[in-house]
Amino acid sequence: MVHSAMVENPLMLGLPEEKRPEPFAMVIFGAHGDLCKRKLLPAIYALYVQNLLPENFAILGQSRTEKTDQKFRDDMKEAVIKYSEDLEFDQASWDRFAPSLYYRAGDSKNLESYKEMKATLAELEKQHGTMGNHIFYLSTPPSLYMPIITKLAESGLAIARKKNEPAWPRVVVEKPFGHDLASSLELDATLHDVLSEPQIYRIDHYLGKETVQNIMCFRFANSIFEPIWNREFVDHIQITSAETIGVEDRGAYYEEAGALRDMIQNHLMQLVALVAMEPPISLDPEATRDERVKVLNAIRPFSADTIDDFSVRGQYGEGYVLGDKAARYRDEKNVSPESTRETYAALKLYIDNWRWAGVPIYLRSGKRLAKRLTEIAIQFRKPPKMLFKQLGGSIYHNTPASESPNVLVMKIQPDDGISLKFATKQPGPTTQIRSLTMDFRYGTAFGSRTPPAYERLILDALIGDPSLYARSDFYEASWKLYQPLIEHWEKSVPGKSTGKGYLVAHRPFPNYESGSWGPQESDEMLSIEGHTWREL
Ligand code: BG6
Repeated sequence: MVHSAMVENPLMLGLPEEKRPEPFAMVIFGAHGDLCKRKLLPAIYALYVQNLLPENFAILGQSRTEKTDQKFRDDMKEAVIKYSEDLEFDQASWDRFAPSLYYRAGDSKNLESYKEMKATLAELEKQHGTMGNHIFYLSTPPSLYMPIITKLAESGLAIARKKNEPAWPRVVVEKPFGHDLASSLELDATLHDVLSEPQIYRIDHYLGKETVQNIMCFRFANSIFEPIWNREFVDHIQITSAETIGVEDRGAYYEEAGALRDMIQNHLMQLVALVAMEPPISLDPEATRDERVKVLNAIRPFSADTIDDFSVRGQYGEGYVLGDKAARYRDEKNVSPESTRETYAALKLYIDNWRWAGVPIYLRSGKRLAKRLTEIAIQFRKPPKMLFKQLGGSIYHNTPASESPNVLVMKIQPDDGISLKFATKQPGPTTQIRSLTMDFRYGTAFGSRTPPAYERLILDALIGDPSLYARSDFYEASWKLYQPLIEHWEKSVPGKSTGKGYLVAHRPFPNYESGSWGPQESDEMLSIEGHTWREL
């Protein structure tokens, strides 16, 4: 726990003067909502106490609920105390910060609200010297994104910035960015009608995680990994994002979304891109974003004949998670008792390019699984000759340790770090082989606070650096890839054979127990290729 009055500033390291944010006013749409309380305000406050905000700034909360500036400040103080990660609350810092917080109730579909907002922003500019720089943060239900963007344009609050114009409007859009290919293209077109691409920030909080940012550093700041980072040496890759929580109070949203849209189409695809991309020619935001998109464009599309062999969906039933009884998904609040919405999805992907041809990439993500954990595991090929095979001595997966392959694991969360599994001789008179791991852990290596994703992402949007945001073509490529699967799942009932493929006998929902590692079909999908999911 770090005391916020005397926070050392890890983010300041390497932050050159010209990269400090300019004065700004931020409007948060949906300021009465959960995200604002849990993530946005704690992140903005943390930036403030680390001296990463400019002197001149103002935050204007907006939502339908009536409240005064003072009530908003009190609510946000409570939220900051409750949700700030590793940052102890400091009253004196808060007292300096709070007068920059304002609130106005408004109807985001009504032009009048925007006229009032314009007047308020002009007022804040006088009081706080925000210099006409406005950042509009859309933290509302997605159905409001288009009306808000349209009204921002009609009121003249958001306009395409002309070159060399000093003041900037920017818009940050929360996920989900669209519901399918068509709706995401429509949203994108609406944004581009109003703004130019450098003014648009599509947030994917996975890109802001320190461990995720480190993937590129690990790969391209070292010379020993890249030569083996390809089909010659890598057998397959597994990306797991497991959660123990259920859908909590988000049943209504989840009924529309499901695991594929909620986690895989965005967060996990960013991980795939970072792990599989080519080295960018520079750290220019567009250069890195170009490489990430190229990976998506090289993924083999799902084909009607094999779609059931390349994808598995599941839904949790009753069970015990970490010792506590958990209800089935169909009994959650705002969920249909006959719901066919997936709470688990697993996929097999191939990237058909020179580096990765023939290397399966397995993805899985689910709620109410046995453990909370996100990791990327690169499993290398076995040695060409099993010299120590007959000696046994396994501690791993029933495979003799002499045969168990090297695995490099990037642990995204929790226990952030990197580990490498290798075989070694156990000391003694005989040659017994054991699997061991070499571990790097952020906590022990750096001993400092790891900034939460939103801190970095909000700072980048204020600076105007979109590197860690998704570009328009990334979402387009990702939705294009998943559109056939979405349609296939919409029209085929789980448990009813489509008559094609090997894994046709997917069982009806619910098909996995809460607290387990997901449906058995997921294991079968890997066993077809002679692989097994890692035991975590
Ligand atoms: C969100 C999803 O984007 O990511 C949630 O909507 C999910 O359903 C969350 O729980 C997971 O984020 P993290 O950072 O805890 O892995």
